[in-house]
Amino acid sequence: MNRDDFPILNGDFIYFDNSATTLKPQCVVDKMVDYYSKYTSNIHRGDYDNAIKTNKEYDQVRDLVKDFIHAGDSKEIVFTSGATESLNMIAFGFFKSILKEKDEILLTMSEHASNVLPWQVLERDGCGKVKYIPLDENHELTVENVKKAITSNTKVISIAHISNVVGDIRDIVEIGKICKEKNIYFVVDAAQSVSHIEVDVVSANVSFLAFSGHKMVGPTGVGVLYGKRELLKGMVPLKYGGGMNQSFEIDGSYVLKEAPIKLEAGTPPIAEVIGLGEAIKFIQSIGVSKIHEHEYRLKKYLIDKLKDIPNIVVYNKNSKSGIVAFNIKGVFPQDTSIYLNHYHIAIRAGNHCAKVLKEELNIKNTCRVSLYLYNTKEEVDKLIEVLKNSEDIFKVVI
Ligand code: ALA
Repeated sequence: MNRDDFPILNGDFIYFDNSATTLKPQCVVDKMVDYYSKYTSNIHRGDYDNAIKTNKEYDQVRDLVKDFIHAGDSKEIVFTSGATESLNMIAFGFFKSILKEKDEILLTMSEHASNVLPWQVLERDGCGKVKYIPLDENHELTVENVKKAITSNTKVISIAHISNVVGDIRDIVEIGKICKEKNIYFVVDAAQSVSHIEVDVVSANVSFLAFSGHKMVGPTGVGVLYGKRELLKGMVPLKYGGGMNQSFEIDGSYVLKEAPIKLEAGTPPIAEVIGLGEAIKFIQSIGVSKIHEHEYRLKKYLIDKLKDIPNIVVYNKNSKSGIVAFNIKGVFPQDTSIYLNHYHIAIRAGNHCAKVLKEELNIKNTCRVSLYLYNTKEEVDKLIEVLKNSEDIFKVVI
C-alpha cells in the first residue's frame, strides 16, 4: 500500500516501530521544503505576498484537523508541540484550578507516561487523586470495568484511545456516554489511534483530546490539543508571549486573545503545521478504515505465524490494533531488538514509556512490533524467518 511514497523503504529496511514514530511520505517532506525554500515568513504578522501565502497555508490546517477528528469548530483546535504538551496543558492549564483533593482521576495501568505523570504531579499538589481502572485478563480496558471504577468523587477519566503496548482499542463512544451521564470530564490520548482508526470527538463526547503529528506520517514538533469550546475558554495558557495577547499595559494589566490563539504563544512550528496538513490529506486519500483493516490483517497473520515458534510469548494476542508485544523466552528484549537490527528490522524494546504496566504484565520490558500502512506480508515473513533462527542470537548480539 503506497510504499513508493516512502523512499526510505527502497532498500532492504523493514520498519516495525510505527508506534514510536511513523515514516514520512515524500509529499509531506516536499511540502515543508517548499515553505522553507519558496515562501518562508512568519504568520499573522506580515502584509507581503509570502506572509499572506503562509497565513493561508497555516490557517487551513486548523480546518483540516477539525474535519479529520469531526470537531464542530476550528476554534477548538490548538496547535502544540505534540501529545505530551497537549496533555500537560490539559492537566495544568485546565484541571489544576478546578480539582479538589478528594476528586478522583481515573487512568489505567497501561497509560503512557504523558498521561500519568501530569496527573501524578497534580495529585502531589493536592489537586485530585489518581486511581487506576483495573484491566481484564487480556490487559485490556472494558466498559464494564470503567463503570465499576466510577464513584461519586470521579471527576476525570483520562485514557488512551489505543494503548501503545497492549494495543487494545478502547470503546470511547460508550465511555464518553457514561461520562456525559455522570458529568465526568473525558480526556482521550489519541496519539496511537488518530491515524489508525476513526476518531470522532463529538460522538464520543470528548472534553479534551491530544495527538502528535509525527505518529501520523507528519513532522515531529507539532501536535494537536482539541478542547470543547466552552472548556478552552476556561483554560489558562502555560506560555505567555507574542501573538496570544490583545494588549498589555505598564500597570501589569493585559488582555488575551480568545482560544485557540491565547494558547499558542510565540512563533509556532509553521513548517510542521503545514506538513501536518499534508499528512492529513495523505491519510485521507487512503482512508483510516482501510489503514486499520490492513494493519489488523497483518497483525493477525503475524500472531498466527508466531505460534509456530515455541520460545515466543505474546502478551496481546487479542487486541484489535496493529501492535504486537512479545518476548523470546529467556532473552532480554533489547538483545532481541539488536539481533533484529542485524537483519535491518527495526522494532522497539523496553517499557515503551508505560512504566506502571509492569505491575499488570508481571514483566518489565517487551519487544514491540507496531505495524502501519506500508508494512507487508513479506516483511512479516522475513521477521518470522529471522526469529525462527534466533538460536544464533547471542553470536550476533555479542
Ligand atoms: N510513545 C512512543 C512509543 O510508544 C514513543 O514508542
